[in-house]
Formats: sequence, structure tokens, C-alpha cells
Amino acid sequence: MKFFNREKEIKEILSIIEFEPNFIYFLYGPINSGKTALINEVINNRLDNDKYVVFYINLRRYFISKYDDFIALLFKEYSEDKKPLELIKGLIKDSPLIFGIPIPKNTLEILLSKNEEVNVFDYITNLLLDIKKEGKQPIIILDELQKIGDLKINGFLIYELFNYFISLTKHKHLCHVFCLSSDSLFIEKVYNEAMLNGRAKYLLVDDFDKETALKFMDFLSKRILNKTLSKEEKELIYSYVGGKPKDIVYVIKNMKTDKLKEILDYLLNDAKQKLDMLLEVLDYSTPKVIVGDKEVEVKKDDIINALRLFKEKYMINKKEIPTPVYMYLVKKNILFLNPVEGTLKPQSFLIWNVIKRIL
Ligand SMILES: Nc1ncnc2c1ncn2[C@@H]1O[C@H](COP(=O)(O)OP(=O)(O)O)[C@@H](O)[C@H]1O
Ligand SMILES: [Mg+2]
Repeated sequence: MKFFNREKEIKEILSIIEFEPNFIYFLYGPINSGKTALINEVINNRLDNDKYVVFYINLRRYFISKYDDFIALLFKEYSEDKKPLELIKGLIKDSPLIFGIPIPKNTLEILLSKNEEVNVFDYITNLLLDIKKEGKQPIIILDELQKIGDLKINGFLIYELFNYFISLTKHKHLCHVFCLSSDSLFIEKVYNEAMLNGRAKYLLVDDFDKETALKFMDFLSKRILNKTLSKEEKELIYSYVGGKPKDIVYVIKNMKTDKLKEILDYLLNDAKQKLDMLLEVLDYSTPKVIVGDKEVEVKKDDIINALRLFKEKYMINKKEIPTPVYMYLVKKNILFLNPVEGTLKPQSFLIWNVIKRIL
């Protein structure tokens, strides 16, 4: 599908890439706000093929339970008798995008054996240096990074990885690093992590504001339905799903065959069932969250009271809800936490509409 707008974000990313690497960048935002779509648009349509080599790794679809699983995802083995740089040069003729860092067959095994002096990260660094020598700027993008947030090796893998990324950016200015995540508790942890202080920056990719959402509806209806929607129809869609790109796409696509009001009621009911279920379970069991190094119980009444705060407002200060309570609601994808601004809001307008109706 054609990409719409996000000109401000695209400009920002392009201007970051133009300068030498200095920070790790975290792209964060609510679920389905368009983070992956945005970074893909930049890679596929906005980069100069001759200048960049992009390694894009999306952890979404994989089951990662140990260090070796993650490393295996970073690399792509090949058996030809070629240097990895030669292989890359062949691959980037049409697009700067490379899935998986190329590595000659059997090399990974050797690098992973503990007694080797050169490790996998040295291998990557050397390859990045070769790319740079060819006059090209390497970029690493890790999508859904929270999937390795809890993985342990000696300590946590994520720390080893952050250390490595700091060396690539702040210290060596060798490679741009972008990390994407919808998991706002993960982003909160990252944001408060001392080792990243002054070494990381944060870019919010939020749902569209109202004006942009209405334009997105025009953009989609012209392409998908071959017609323009009335102002009333657009206002109605916005009142249900707000500016969440995924929901707007869903509604317009389904308008090909179904009635608008039915589509919207279906979505609302679907969100309602999920929240109902979540609240019902709380009658039978009390959930726990880990705050610092303590396990804390979260009571149903506190959860209800927290949600009630959104009856009048879409966004609140995170201090208005006790930490364990908002942690639970964020973990359950009911709320989105913006750790940079210190705010909380429903993950979507649909959830907001449900909160307003059932509480
Ligand atoms: N700017 C955009 N133009 C067109 N479609 C978009 C745009 N942003 C998001 N979408 C659509 O919305 C859906 C969710 O976007 P995605 O990038 O997967 O969200 P995220 O990575 O933030 O969870 C995708 O199907 C995508 O095609
Ligand atoms: Mg994504």
C-alpha cells in the first residue's frame, strides 16, 4: 500500500542519518501507530542507494529464548566463496536494504565458541568498517527490540547489546542505530537506564492527530473505494477509531463490502469484549507486577479507579496512577505510557470509547 505523510518524522530521520552517528535512536509509540511502516518508507523510498547500506532485523515473528537464537537472527549464512563485502555490493544494487548480516558458512559457529578471541560483535564491526571504507554509511535497524529485553546471558543480553551500540555510535561514529518498540514499559526502562544517559535519543511516532487522520481517510478512500467520503462519515470514523493508522485502514478497506456503522460497531464491540474479559478475570485472581525488585499485587478497585480517570480526559500525567497499576494496564495494552513526557493515554480511541461506556 502507498505510504501517507509522516513528512516531519521522515525529515527528522533523514537529517539524523546525514550527520555522523552519535546516538542510539529509539522510535517509540502506541501499537500500530506506523513505526515499522515509517522506517520501511525511509529505507525503501527516501534513501540514496549509493550512500547507505541498511541492515534491518525485525524480531517480531521469532521465538527467542536464548542468546544464540538472537545471534542467529542477526546473521545470514552463505556458502559462496566470496568476501562478505563483495556479497553486500551485489545485494545493494537495487535497494540499500539487507536482511541479515552476511557471514560465510561455519564462521558463526567458530565465533560463538567461547575460546575464540574474535567474537560476533567484532565480526560485525569489521564488516561495518569495510562498508565505510567503500564510502557507504551503514545503518542498523532493530524492530521490536523489547523481545530480547528480558534475555539473560552473563547478566542481560540487552546491556551487552546497548554497550555495543554505544561503541558504534558515541565512540566510533561508525554506524547509525535505530531501535523500534511498541512496548512502552520497555521504553520506560530504557529511558531510565543510566548507561544510556546522554547516549540515546527518543523519537515519538504517535497516532495521527485529527486533521491528519481525516486527510488519511481521503487518501485511502480515493485509492481503495474510488470515491470521497462525506465530512459526516469521516467525523464518525474519527469518533470511533481516532487517528490510529491501522484502524483507519481497516475501516476503509471494509467499506468496500460492509456498511460503515456496522464496521465501527464491530470494532467497538471487539474492544469491549476484551476489556470486559480482562476485568472479569480480576474477580477471580489478583495480578502481580514487578516494581524494582519487588512483586506487587494490583487490586481490581485500583484498576477501575485508574481507568475512570480517562472518562473525562484522553491523556493524564502518569503520576495520577500508582506505578504498579499503570504498569499492569500498560502490560495488558490498555494504556500507552510516554516515559519521555510522563503521560498515559489509552492505547487506542477504541479502548477509550470502551472505557467511557462501560465504567
Ligand atoms: N503513514 C502510513 N501510510 C499508510 N499506511 C500506514 C501508515 N502508517 C501506518 N500504516 C498502516 O498501519 C498499519 C500499522 O502500522 P505499523 O507500521 O505496523 O505499526 P507499528 O509498527 O507502529 O506497530 C500497517 O498495516 C500500515 O500499513
Ligand atoms: Mg512495528
